Amino acid sequence: MKFFVDTANLDQIKEARDLGVLDGVTTNPSLMAREGVTGKDAIYAHYKAICDIVDGDVSAEVISTDFEGIVAEGTALSEIAPNIVVKVPMIKEGVKALRYFSDHDIRTNCTLVFSAGQALLAAKAGATYLSPFIGRINDLNWDGMQLIHEIAELYAIQGFETEILAASIRTSRDIVEAGKAGADVVTCPLDSILGLLKHPLTDIGLEKFLADHRAANG
Ligand code: G3P
Repeated sequence: MKFFVDTANLDQIKEARDLGVLDGVTTNPSLMAREGVTGKDAIYAHYKAICDIVDGDVSAEVISTDFEGIVAEGTALSEIAPNIVVKVPMIKEGVKALRYFSDHDIRTNCTLVFSAGQALLAAKAGATYLSPFIGRINDLNWDGMQLIHEIAELYAIQGFETEILAASIRTSRDIVEAGKAGADVVTCPLDSILGLLKHPLTDIGLEKFLADHRAANG
């Protein structure tokens, strides 16, 4: 199971990398805006900076919504660095673009996925990664993790190679649940990854070990 960090914040990406468990980065236009990165040149330079930090895949999302625009933008993004993955929305023009990119050996991440039908379409079009948005489904009081189960079963039965990238993951427990449900990758904020560390018995146990060592050794 791969861990991606879902942020455009360079310090957080470095911290995740230094932890030694980071396999990649996902971004989206909202995350880029949150970092104050605006304008095409600055956005492309920021993607380059992220790619210089991590060896793994870095998803860079297109803004265009028409086929020609998505292809032009995605091609330009893919030229920033070899580890760029072009993030394409699950819309009709996006599906056409996924097929184009697949035929031209440009790797993709199909985003804004909320149903198994959309997952089927993206895999048929040759998407490298598929991003079902778990948290946003849960926000509507539906079951986001059930969707991961359903897609994992569907892809296994049909033999699709598209990797399931559980996105909009916001809690440490959801990372574990996504893994159990069959996600190949999770992407989440750094805090959710760091949350996996936490258990009070670990802290209590360590404190006792160190106290015993001090008592015995002075
Ligand atoms: O990768 C997509 C993800 O960033 C969406 O997360 O928390 O905005 O639903 P969220």
